[in-house]
Amino acid sequence: MIFTSSLFKIPIVNNVIVFDETDSTNNRAKDFGKKGCVDGTLVVSDCQISGRGRMGRSFSSPTGEGIYMSLLLKPDIDNRLISQLTLLAGLAVSRALLKYYDIKTDIKWPNDLLINGKKIIGILTEKCEDFIVIGTGINVNNKSFDVKIADKATSLYLETGKEYNRESMIENILKEFNDLYLSFLNEQDLKSVMDEYNNLSVSYDKDIYVIPYELTGKLENSYQITDDTLPVYHCMGIASDGSLICRDSSGKLTPINSGEISIRNVR
Ligand code: BTN
Repeated sequence: MIFTSSLFKIPIVNNVIVFDETDSTNNRAKDFGKKGCVDGTLVVSDCQISGRGRMGRSFSSPTGEGIYMSLLLKPDIDNRLISQLTLLAGLAVSRALLKYYDIKTDIKWPNDLLINGKKIIGILTEKCEDFIVIGTGINVNNKSFDVKIADKATSLYLETGKEYNRESMIENILKEFNDLYLSFLNEQDLKSVMDEYNNLSVSYDKDIYVIPYELTGKLENSYQITDDTLPVYHCMGIASDGSLICRDSSGKLTPINSGEISIRNVR
């Protein structure tokens, strides 16, 4: 991958490290972080041998097709605010795809972006020592997927019939993230983007299942929930702290801070 110096015009980007191949850009970013690299270090790879997702899942990362990048940041924020960065990263990608490519994505709280119900982007945020790593994986020019995930995953190429330049896409996404992140550091909550997020959210005003943590790791994906064995909630959207507000059948509102949801009657 060839990067022009234009990436350095983005205020939050201070260092760019590019690999042809690595196990996981999140792992590399953590290694650099432990060695004291600067705030705003971006790690990008052309492929990942063991790309990781949440809940111990893997993220398919074939050579030359997707975007696999991790941004190391050292924000001066309370630990409780870190999960909100995942939502901001998702919003940044969604904004960039719409603004620069006219591609509409749906956000599946907390960390996936979908097109036509299929996953196109995943985000993995990890805290380590005094830094945070936000890893973003995007299926860009993939022509096909392994049969095991073919009905759940898609790419920008498969959805639009076009191939995209990954370098300029990374730049466009980081421009959007830059603005969201700098405002967030001032505001320390998501109040100013809540409505935008909820409007993009695939679960907003829908019936959902909240998948307990013990179950999430056992499922290959959350679409495997097929019946009402789990309690059904109505999703009221995110609150300003990024939690998902769920209403149960008695009308009681419960904020969900972690884990995973599945949209009822949508597979
Ligand atoms: C998920 O699907 O749960 C999140 C997927 C995150 C994948 C990205 S690709 C770049 C970075 N490196 C990783 O190993 N994971 C993230």
